[in-house]
Amino acid sequence: MPTPTPHISAAPGDFAETVLLPGDPRRARHVADRYLEGAREVTAVRGMLGFTGTYRGHRLSVMGTGMGIPSASIYTTELIKEYRVRNLIRIGTCGAMRLEVKVRDVILAMGACTDSGVNRARFAGADFAAVADYHLLRTAADTASRLGTPVHVGSVISGDLFYHPTPAVFERYAAMGVLAAEMEAAGIYGVAAEHGGRALAICTVSDHLLSHEAMTVEERETSIAAMVELALETAIAL
Ligand code: HPA
Repeated sequence: MPTPTPHISAAPGDFAETVLLPGDPRRARHVADRYLEGAREVTAVRGMLGFTGTYRGHRLSVMGTGMGIPSASIYTTELIKEYRVRNLIRIGTCGAMRLEVKVRDVILAMGACTDSGVNRARFAGADFAAVADYHLLRTAADTASRLGTPVHVGSVISGDLFYHPTPAVFERYAAMGVLAAEMEAAGIYGVAAEHGGRALAICTVSDHLLSHEAMTVEERETSIAAMVELALETAIAL
């Protein structure tokens, strides 16, 4: 695969060793503008923006992944294989499905179940245990303690369908201890395993699948800030 890749126009060396990965490319711009010094746009193919700057003196990148496992898998594969990125930290939102998890809470996705076929395709048809990298997970948990940011640590389900025709499946997932639904972590964990990267998904609960409570626009900003700050501080502690 030549660099620039089919989906990323950055030059070799344009990405830092660690990349924060929101789904929304405009959130990538927001994180770069708000938190990174000297941030420079390094890619914008299909509007999927990526930036590199420094945070507290450490070189750091942030790039959108788009929604869903296929989109996130393309970008993260190219980041690892072609840009030598080592650490992938997803910063996203999720829908909670257990009552002890509240809107605005932050989840560290220790494991990611999925109804997608991507990891079976990679893993000779068997069930692959899509887990976070332990060093990233432990660093994030320790950093959360230091910052006083409460977190839930557990599993999420990375679903292919946002609009699921059988929402009752979420009750089954919840009964199996799954904390929340999102749409990328299991794919990113599979990509990291296949290509030798390290990955962790940190998610803010934006809505609740049982209570149907959801964040207001203002709450989204502040609650997401707690997650972004946790991800930034984790990134520089690795
Ligand atoms: N499902 C899947 N992904 C999500 C959700 C959800 O309910 N909320 C935020 N991301």
